[in-house]
Amino acid sequence: MLVGAAALTAGASGRPQGAPVYRDATAPVPARVADLLARMTLAEKAGQLAMVHVGRIRGDADLQELFAQDGIGSVLSGAGEVPGGDGSLAAWATGVNHLQRYALDHSRLGIPIVYGSDATHGFTWVKGAEVYPQQLGLAAAHDPELVQAIAAATARVVRAAGVRWVFGPVADVSRDLRWGRYYETFGEDPQLAASLVEAAVRGTQGPDPAHPLAAATAKHFLAYSQPQGGRDSASVQASASELADVFSPPFAAAIHAGVASVMNQHGWVNGTPSVASKALLTDVLRTQLGFHGVELTDWGDVENLFCGCQGAPAVQAMPRVAADYEHAVAAALNAGAEVSMVPDRATEFTAAVEAAVRDGLVDVSRLDAAVAHVLALKFELGLFDDPYVAEPSPATVRTDEDVALARRAADESITVLKNTKRLLPLRRRGPVLVVGPDTLRRQDGGWTVQWQGVPAGTPPPPGVTILQGVRTALGAKNVRTVANWRNAAAVRRAATRARVVLVVVGEEPYAEWEGDSANASLSADEARLVRLVESTRTPTVLVLVSGRPLMIAPLIRGAEAFVMAYLPGSEGGRAVADVLFGGVKARGRLPFTWPSSIKDVPMALNRRLDGQPATPLFRLGAGLTP
Ligand code: BGC
Repeated sequence: MLVGAAALTAGASGRPQGAPVYRDATAPVPARVADLLARMTLAEKAGQLAMVHVGRIRGDADLQELFAQDGIGSVLSGAGEVPGGDGSLAAWATGVNHLQRYALDHSRLGIPIVYGSDATHGFTWVKGAEVYPQQLGLAAAHDPELVQAIAAATARVVRAAGVRWVFGPVADVSRDLRWGRYYETFGEDPQLAASLVEAAVRGTQGPDPAHPLAAATAKHFLAYSQPQGGRDSASVQASASELADVFSPPFAAAIHAGVASVMNQHGWVNGTPSVASKALLTDVLRTQLGFHGVELTDWGDVENLFCGCQGAPAVQAMPRVAADYEHAVAAALNAGAEVSMVPDRATEFTAAVEAAVRDGLVDVSRLDAAVAHVLALKFELGLFDDPYVAEPSPATVRTDEDVALARRAADESITVLKNTKRLLPLRRRGPVLVVGPDTLRRQDGGWTVQWQGVPAGTPPPPGVTILQGVRTALGAKNVRTVANWRNAAAVRRAATRARVVLVVVGEEPYAEWEGDSANASLSADEARLVRLVESTRTPTVLVLVSGRPLMIAPLIRGAEAFVMAYLPGSEGGRAVADVLFGGVKARGRLPFTWPSSIKDVPMALNRRLDGQPATPLFRLGAGLTP
């Protein structure tokens, strides 16, 4: 539908006579952008650069302030946030349409908003949506076609919800397992990560980059994954060759695939905040890598330049580089930053943009270039011509194909790293004991339902635990468990009576800095459980459900077989059973180096990053096919 053009009659070009070029769906995007830009006031342009999180919009007064007064150009769901209702797909669509309607009704020129969200392993903010493996596990499958299919299946739900801007894939190359976002990456091999990022971008955006079905975002530019001490958002020191050869390739691949946007990282690189780094955001991103899309800041990055009030403790502790919001905006815009995830204070942000232009701190041509990128994205997404999303069918949330895809992904990623006495594949007979903290919230990891993962005590999205998967594979009567795995006497008794024990351990879910771990150890309780099982001499398969390699070499030595499940998502339990009982051939290969000890961290590509000699426990690419 042509917004607001209903009363006009169509001319020879298909454009309603007298209607401006920008409203003409058949006009080329650059012409539409130029026409619209020429009609916009400074305030309207400033608004297009503001992205506000939906949790900030609590009622009519906020709607009035943000849309009618500030004219914000975009809205995001911060992790777990929903635009109203119960989080069902229908409620999403209604919520986004409601915001869109309000925005259009209060925009002098009829400029639609674009709604953005993270959706890195399924669109898990939608109730019941499929939870695919996290990126690190997907990397172990070495299968770009699989990654593209998952991105496309995710984008289907994203679009049905009314969301058109996806903040993914994560294009960071993992370097330090202590970092709380390690599992969000496609591992440490820049070429593998590049091929998977490219596939994810194609899956999200669809076949025609000129008309993306949804916009993908390669994040977080650049070298975010090598923070000092492995602390999220801490300063990064990276040499020119590391920037070019390690960190850039996945972004270059995303750009090659026509990625619509790139998000800068939160922290500082080589002494400059990324969001204010012209060297990174203009010289590398635009000039060297040839990026033409929208630059998006991460959450609160511009504000942090003067107030240090958002995000990770490491970044809040950095020095302030701007005196006030106006100078912060100027530093960011002049460096190449564009849309700002403000994420709350839109009025202050837009006022700062206007002041920076009026005071000559930012040239109007720079502002226009940034706004032109956002408008082009909105035109390319079709938002001017078709701003609303149709009422979705609930059947599109989690289809049988989605479940099959999640299972195939987990099947392909599970990595067998040890198999002595030819224990694997296990024979299909009991009694098998499955014991340990084997939960769906662990399988799913962070960024699932909520930022820090499924809250304890909340029912997780549908899925299959390892116990359930093994029961399905073997028949319930052949499979035992111990309800309280901390009960040593019960575990010892059950393990002694079993033919084989699967001891399942790992990590509770986490995200961002909350997941930083100085020593990447297993909890004392879980280590005790593994030692206890191993001491019974019943053949033991150690299964690790974890977002990083944990420092458990002695426990691995004590087990006959060892399997890395990563964070395998909803179908992880079935996939572990598939691989252990030979239903599918194990084909996962480690997408990272597994150090023998925390003393060797950071380690990547089979060597310590400080150049000291070290032998990894498992090398990059390790994986057996029993
Ligand atoms: C994260 C981004 C994410 C954004 C919005 C930030 O804190 O660093 O990866 O896209 O929040 O949820």
